[in-house]
This record gives sequence, structure tokens and C-alpha cells, in this order.
Amino acid sequence: MNVSFFKQTTVNKKYINALKRAVDNIAQGETSMVSGSYTRNFELKFSEYLGSKNFVFLSNGLDSLTLALKSLGLRAGDHVIVPSHTYIATWIAPLLLGCRLIPVPVRDDNFLLDASLLKEYCTSKTKCIMPVHLYGNACDMQQITEFAIANNIYVVEDAAQAHGVSINKKKIGTYGDITCFSFYPTKNLGAFGEAGGVSTNNDDLARRISSMRSYGRSLTEPSKNIYLSGNFRGDEIQAALLIEKLNDLELISKKRREFIDLYASLLSPVGDHISLISYQEESAPHLAIGILSDPSRRNSFIDFMRNRGIQIGIHYKEPCHSQPCIDQSSLIIDHTAASQASEIADQIVSLPMSECHTYDEIVYTAESICLFFTSS
Ligand SMILES: Cc1ncc(COP(=O)(O)O)c(C=O)c1O
Repeated sequence: MNVSFFKQTTVNKKYINALKRAVDNIAQGETSMVSGSYTRNFELKFSEYLGSKNFVFLSNGLDSLTLALKSLGLRAGDHVIVPSHTYIATWIAPLLLGCRLIPVPVRDDNFLLDASLLKEYCTSKTKCIMPVHLYGNACDMQQITEFAIANNIYVVEDAAQAHGVSINKKKIGTYGDITCFSFYPTKNLGAFGEAGGVSTNNDDLARRISSMRSYGRSLTEPSKNIYLSGNFRGDEIQAALLIEKLNDLELISKKRREFIDLYASLLSPVGDHISLISYQEESAPHLAIGILSDPSRRNSFIDFMRNRGIQIGIHYKEPCHSQPCIDQSSLIIDHTAASQASEIADQIVSLPMSECHTYDEIVYTAESICLFFTSS
């Protein structure tokens, strides 16, 4: 059996007709090609789904993070707290604005920012905390927002991997000052190409970001450009697909949670060799992350699985702090954060999992994993 990691040909098949209808409507002039009714409808629908006052549809996840920080006035020299382990986009956004990063260690059970360390790592120049709801689990937003309010610090959440995740029935997207989403095709709510956006309960920030997404053009006097900004508008066709797909997001999350539970139970006999990170009850698992107790076996494990037709991923193989693009002088990083991030990068594997995988594929993958660890 072949088990691919991502199912490009099936993931958005169900929504192709919605795409075709949108192309027809636009071609017939029923809505504008750019920033038209699909964008507005998706913004309304997604903000309603989140329970947030505003959602601004944008070009991609990185632009959403960058505009969020820009709209809050973050600038060169400001300190920004980030998790030591995340996808590099979280780090790139504040670095593009010239900020200095304070990477904070992550929790051992789910690799999310350890909120209990904020006090220790925060500096007098810290202007913003960027929690990342990595892999579909939620950070401790109560502790983070309490700390941020007490210290007059902004919270910009990276929810690129957390569509539909809740804490006590309240959706991620309603906690920090601004929450940033990516709709990159592989995400749980993935488009047919590039897309992203931000949610915020602050109307002023929503207006500022709406203006900044379109060359800083004033919303009330469009002939005036009031911010020096670029073009970060989301695409109409992507919005059309996302409107349809959003109807299925709860089902997508449910299916993914079922597969995580299935992996957890089937892998328990080899739990001394590989364990899953812990997924919260209200998570919307984005990746099925396994932790190897012996990282030196990772390459042979991946080869073994490949020989059985199974694709294994690593998210992420190179820790952010040692990426060649990172100027070390822009980091305020200690040994604990750096060594933990390197250790995590060495021991993780991502198992195939999506709402488009079948029960048999997950069982076959889990059986193959058990075979590897029991036969060698
Ligand atoms: C955690 C995280 N942050 C940010 C991004 C950036 O999103 P995009 O690829 O849409 O720019 C991604 C996705 O790639 C991500 O996984």
C-alpha cells in the first residue's frame, strides 16, 4: 500500500465546482476580480465561525503576521518573544521589521511556548509575545494574556496550524490582540493556492490592516494613501473555495482527532520507542507528531517506512536559530532554549494524517511502525 503524506489530488476535490462557479461569476462580471463579494463573504463567515468581531482576508500567513506586527507599530529594536520551536515564518515576520527575538523554551508534552517562563525571559524592551498554536494544539492563552496585560505587551498569535481549535469552547482567534491564519493548501482549512488573514476584536486594528493590505489606501478617502504599505490582498477565487470548505471544518477536525486517537492506541505497544505529542481534547490536529526516544534511528526508520510505501515528514528538521538566514545578533537566545530546540528537531517525525486519509492507511502505517521497532 502507498501512503502519501499529503493528498494533493483529493484534498480539495469536493470544492472544485465552487471554484468553477466563482470563475464563471467573475468572468460574467457578477463580482469584482479583486476584493469583491467572495472576499467579503468569507471575512464575514470566518469571523462568525471564530466568534471574532473582524476577519481581514490577506495574501498568506507570513504577510498576515508581518502586517499584524506592523499595524501595532512594532519596529526596529523592539524585543519580541517567540517560541524556540516553530516554523520559521513566525520568526521571519518580526525579523523583517528589524525586531530582536527572544526565543523561549517550549513545553515537553506538546512543544508549545512555555507560558510559565514569560516572566523570566521578558525584557524591558519586550513589545509583543507571539504564541504559536503549533500542530493544532492551543497555547495557554489565559496565562499569556494575563501576563501581557499586566506588562503592557501585545499578543500576536500564529494560528497557521490551528483553524477550529478551542479552549473551553472559545475559538483560537479571539484571545490575543491579533490572530494570524494561513490557508496554505496543506493546512486544515487549506485553499487551492496561497491565502491568509487575521482576526481581531479591535475595530481600529482591523481597519488599519484593511488599509495596509492595499497600499495603505484610506478606507474613507481611497485617493489618499495613509500608510506606506504593499499589496497583501487575498485572492477572490481562494475566498470562494474557503467559503465552501469552512462548512466542513468541524468534520475535518473530528476526523483528524479520530486518526490521532487511532495512532495513539495502535502505537502503545511500541511506546518506549515512539510516542505522540499530547493532543488536547479541543485540538484540531494538523500534524501527527511522533517523538523518537532514540533519534539516531530516525533515518533508518524513515527509510524502512519509505520501503513500505509510506511517506514520513519532519516538521521541522532544522531549528530556527540555526537557519543560515538568521543573523545571530538579532537573537537573545540562551543555551536552554537553543539546545532544547535542537533536540526536538532531531527527535520528531510527522506521520501521514489528514481528513482524506483512510482508516486502512492509518492502520497500515501504525502496523509498519510497530514492525520497525519490534523487528530491529
Ligand atoms: C506555524 C506557521 N506559521 C506561519 C506560516 C506561514 O504561512 P504561509 O505559508 O501561508 O505564509 C506557516 C505555514 O507555512 C506555519 O506553519
